[in-house]
Amino acid sequence: MLQIAQIPVEPRVVLAPMEGVTDRAFRTLIRSLGGVGLAVTEFVSSEGLTREVESAWRMAELDPDEHPVSIQIYGRDPARMAQAARHCESLGADIVDINLGCPSKRVTSGCSGSALMKEPELARDIFHAVRDAITVPMTVKMRLGWCDANLNAPEIAARAEEAGASMVAVHGRTRNQGYKGSARWDEVGAVRRAVSIPLLVNGDIVDPATARAALAASGADGVMVGRAVMHDPWALRRIADDVAGVPFREPTLEERHAVLQAYLDRVTTEHGGEVDRRTAGKVKQVIAYFTKHLHNCRALRHEINRIRTVDDARRLVEAFFRATIAEDREATLQLHELVAARA
Ligand SMILES: Cc1cc2nc3c(=O)[nH]c(=O)nc-3n(C[C@H](O)[C@H](O)[C@H](O)COP(=O)(O)O)c2cc1C
Repeated sequence: MLQIAQIPVEPRVVLAPMEGVTDRAFRTLIRSLGGVGLAVTEFVSSEGLTREVESAWRMAELDPDEHPVSIQIYGRDPARMAQAARHCESLGADIVDINLGCPSKRVTSGCSGSALMKEPELARDIFHAVRDAITVPMTVKMRLGWCDANLNAPEIAARAEEAGASMVAVHGRTRNQGYKGSARWDEVGAVRRAVSIPLLVNGDIVDPATARAALAASGADGVMVGRAVMHDPWALRRIADDVAGVPFREPTLEERHAVLQAYLDRVTTEHGGEVDRRTAGKVKQVIAYFTKHLHNCRALRHEINRIRTVDDARRLVEAFFRATIAEDREATLQLHELVAARA
């Protein structure tokens, strides 16, 4: 069983932090499908949190039911990172995670995220400052290194462990790789040999087969899964069921519809019926995730661009599923007739 300090992570499948994706409503939604041992928030700026910037505070808000949950923070000033970490603990975070993986220029030009992998001394100071500031476990998420010439994840992970980190997660790409090429799970194995705290392998894990391959190649204790949920919201559940050795049951169209409706209800409770452009954008995104690969999803995506309120979205989703379920029944009926005629 995977355990981060005193916190059991069961199943050993973790929802990765994704800015603009893993907000509170989305985390709750994915958790409701099962298969999530731990979820991580979008990264939150330590500057924003400590200067009381409203958007940063909102990103760090947690749902009372979503435990265990980790709040991820980024920044380069150890004192501010410590203060931000304390704030995360006071908000109810079970774990505070430090971001050493973000490749975006916006973050690295401020010399945080993956840029810290080039400054191991500063990274170590941040680990110590955060560790000393909180009573909940501290963890670190990183890439393999800045570039191929400097694959120093094992060194950074060892510094994190020395400073008292309780887990490290490693995305098997360098910063300079961005999202190009493939994640190198075997390179994550070098981190396995450098530390004895739990290790999560991350990058390109999309289903049970890739999860098994990543675990075998890296020797990690668990998997962290990100983008796969955008293509298949049940991806973590699928992997978790495989790890547990139980067969995965494909969600029916009715179940997909019900889950999506529950999400829209939640958005209404959180934001009211009239949503701003940002929330409307997220609603469209989530509807796309849940209807991808279904018949007529292209037409739905076209229509969804016109929605102005959550009620618009609800009506559209309702109509889409009614039609898709009816078509599905018709197709099943025809199939049965065909089989009967052949028999
Ligand atoms: C839209 C998006 C936003 C992301 N935001 C974060 C973030 O806030 N913090 C972080 O550590 N990683 C972030 N990542 C990286 C993911 O956590 C993960 O490491 C990466 O996508 C590789 O895993 P995957 O192949 O399972 O997606 C982000 C990735 C994407 C695609």
